[in-house]
Parts: sequence; C-alpha cells; structure tokens
Amino acid sequence: MQTHPLSGALGAEITDIDLSSISDQEFADLRDTFLDRSVIVVRNQNLNPDDHIAFAKRWGEININRLFKPTDTHPEIATVLKEPDQKLNIGGQWHTDHSYDLAPAMGSILYAVETPPAGGDTLFCSMGAAYDALSDGMKAMLRGLKAHHSSRHAFGASQTDSEANKEGRLGNEAAAKQDALHPVVIAHPITGRAALYANSDFTTHFEGWSVEESRPLLDQIEAHATTPEFTCRVTWAPGTLTMWDNRAVMHKAIKDYHGHRRLMHRITIEGDPLPAFAD
Ligand code: SIN
Repeated sequence: MQTHPLSGALGAEITDIDLSSISDQEFADLRDTFLDRSVIVVRNQNLNPDDHIAFAKRWGEININRLFKPTDTHPEIATVLKEPDQKLNIGGQWHTDHSYDLAPAMGSILYAVETPPAGGDTLFCSMGAAYDALSDGMKAMLRGLKAHHSSRHAFGASQTDSEANKEGRLGNEAAAKQDALHPVVIAHPITGRAALYANSDFTTHFEGWSVEESRPLLDQIEAHATTPEFTCRVTWAPGTLTMWDNRAVMHKAIKDYHGHRRLMHRITIEGDPLPAFAD
C-alpha cells in the first residue's frame, strides 16, 4: 500500500490496496493515514454493497440515514443522486455531515457508482489548518463560543418539495427536528487536534446570539476555512471510494455537470459527542 498526499493541508490517495480484502495491518495503516490526512481516496475498486458495508463496519457502527433514500436492497447505504434534469445537488454547500446530531457521524464513506463525463468533483477543507492560521485573539474568542446546528431547513420541508424528492431527501419531518449545540472549536476525539466546527448548511447561530447577529461571523469562518491553501479536491470515476473525517473537514459537492447523472453510495459511521478544545 502506497500513500500520496493530495495537497499540503490534507488528503491522501492510497494505491496498491483492494478494499474488499484488506488485512488487519493494512487497515491499521489506513486508519493512521485517515487520522493524519482526514481524507483518503482509493481508486479502481470493484465493491458490491456488501463489500462497502463490510469495509464500513471495520471503522465502527453504521448510522442508518433517516433523511436520505437508501438503496433498494441495503438500508445501510444512502443514495446521493443527481439526475440529469435536477437543479440542486445534495451537499452543494460547504457542510459537515450530521453536525445537527448530538453525536455527529465520525466519518462518511462515499463510493462512486455513476459519474458525469466531466465535473462533479468534491472539495474538502481542513478545519484544523483553518484554526491554526487564526490570530490568537480570534482563536480565544471562538473557543468561548458554542453554536446551534439543525437540519430543519434542509430536510424538514422535503415532503412538499418535488426537487427535494428528486434529490433523494426523505420526507421525515420529525427526524429533521434534531438540533444540537456544539463547541465552535473542538478537540478531535482521537488526535486531540483543535479544529473549527461550524458550517453554512447546518449551523444556525451561536449560543446567546440571534440568527442575524451570527450570520456575518459564520460567513467569515466559512470564507477563512475554505481558503485554497486549506483545501484539496477529489475527482471521481466509477470505483473511486473516498472517506473523510467529519471532525476534521468540511466538504462541498460541485454542481457543474447539468444534463448528466451522478450516483454515489454513502455510508456514515457513528461518532461521539464533540469535546471543546481547551489550551
Ligand atoms: C455529501 O455531501 O455527502 C455528498 C458529497 C458528494 O456527493 O460529493
């Protein structure tokens, strides 16, 4: 197994590995790379849904997604689909998967089934690198904050929205009303590394602040975190698998392939409540 960094800040492409039959040693090496680089990409795999699930179970318990359509045969696998005529795509804004959960998913494993001839890449940014680059004053201010996260606006109205149905969002009004309060600067549960934790899709406002007061600072955090130097970009082809660490990155699916279909299979792995980073 070989490891090739994707950018200075994060990401690694792994070659010479078959994810349908990895040894314990290969898994340990993969996990070390995942914790170090936050995003791992493995190309040219030939995984059926059972292989995908078996690989996911090596990382932890699978979160059965309550807001996305599952595949017809495997409830553990959520479909992330954009049809040729669909206007919006899942994950088109910078976000962190499941930040609206009390114990957000630790990782997401996306496997490409059908990809457009060009485009449909996914961008990632390192929230650890973004935190490190802030001034001491800004770091101290953000360490004193918590923020509310919610999925109501993204998933709550999907029963009545035909575009949302096409995207594969389930009409699950009750499940969408899961809100959570997290520190704005978290300590990674395994590595302890400090990282920003706020995203434009699901973070609604800071504790004790109004939505309107919160917006400019949330926008500033996103603009800073997505500075090109803190990012990497993943291109896809059928058989590409990418796994990312939701405690360390935000991501965004680029919508630049109108007229073509893109179908991905996603499994999310359960995580833990997020501790605040303290000096
Ligand atoms: C997601 O946000 O989980 C989907 C990312 C992608 O489709 O590239």
